[in-house]
Amino acid sequence: MLVLGIETSCDETSASLIDEKNHLLSNIIVSQNKIHSPHGGIIPELASRQHILNINNVIDNVIEKSGAKLDDIDLIGVTNGPGLIGSLIVGVNYAKGLGVSLSKPVIGVNHLKAHVFAAWIKKDNETGKTYEVPYEFPLMCLIVSGGHTDLVKLDSNFQFELIGRTRDDAAGEAFDKAARLMGLGFPGGPEVDKKASLSHDSYKFPRAYMNNTHDFSFSGMKTAFLNLSNSELPLTDEKISKLSNTFQEAIVDVLTKKTIEASIKFNCKGIVLTGGVAANSWLREEMVRKSNMPVFIPEKKLCTDNGAMVASFVVENSRSNLINKEDNLNVYSVLNY
Ligand code: KG4
Ligand code: ZN
Repeated sequence: MLVLGIETSCDETSASLIDEKNHLLSNIIVSQNKIHSPHGGIIPELASRQHILNINNVIDNVIEKSGAKLDDIDLIGVTNGPGLIGSLIVGVNYAKGLGVSLSKPVIGVNHLKAHVFAAWIKKDNETGKTYEVPYEFPLMCLIVSGGHTDLVKLDSNFQFELIGRTRDDAAGEAFDKAARLMGLGFPGGPEVDKKASLSHDSYKFPRAYMNNTHDFSFSGMKTAFLNLSNSELPLTDEKISKLSNTFQEAIVDVLTKKTIEASIKFNCKGIVLTGGVAANSWLREEMVRKSNMPVFIPEKKLCTDNGAMVASFVVENSRSNLINKEDNLNVYSVLNY
């Protein structure tokens, strides 16, 4: 079985091919960072227009790179939300058109659930070790991206239970704003990550642990960072590295503490760390170091948005016959946990 996954929910145009054992055959991710960077954030109208320009080439290239033919595709998965509506429409309609022309079913996949399934993709990770697949449930999943910070308990491939979520900003958004305050590029998370690695020093800085709840809050930490960075003006390279380290440590402390607490409380067998912010080097290290249970983290390229995670969701769920050939995009839309 060959599954094509298409992802256009935000500013990455991506498509991937995965086989029935969840081996990644090819993966193309076209980033729009250069287009949005001068604006300091994503401009939805520009994003959707760029998807229209990119999508044909992305699909052609992913098929060519895998050595397969279009006709070999058995199922098509496409992100159908949440995301920027103009961007989603490009991927969804492309997938529907392809499905009709190939007479193959098209499955609409929830973007956040897809992020979790990046952890099931069998590919060597960046350390060169073959990735271990998390089959023991329940798992505590931290989905941490530019738009979401959710703690979700996974009881089987299909049973998601929302345990906690941010009450205001997402952690990725907080990283992006902190970067902007320091005059770093967009997206800011990878820039803060790089600058933080140059410093071992940090300022005194608060953490919002929000006791007695599994929810998160990052808006207060953003304001605290605004005040701190203003008090350090003018910013030198050295101060930027120290500020980046300070902010990154604070966000990572909150994310790791709350995820590990929830994983223990709900008797989980492991932790899945995923979403764009899961590419953060310090978060990856700290989650593994502090937790006593296995931690599954996709390789960095599969943490940020990609089509492989969409295809992986379809492969894992089709194994359990939850997706049958009668399903079509609207039948299998899963927009809530
Ligand atoms: O999952 P994703 O690609 O898109 C959404 O679904 O939102 O996540 C993008 C977010 C951005 O906020 C970006 O700054 C953040 O992930 N990010 C990082 C790193 N790489 C990406 N944040 C911290 N450290 C990183 N290395
Ligand atoms: Zn995402």
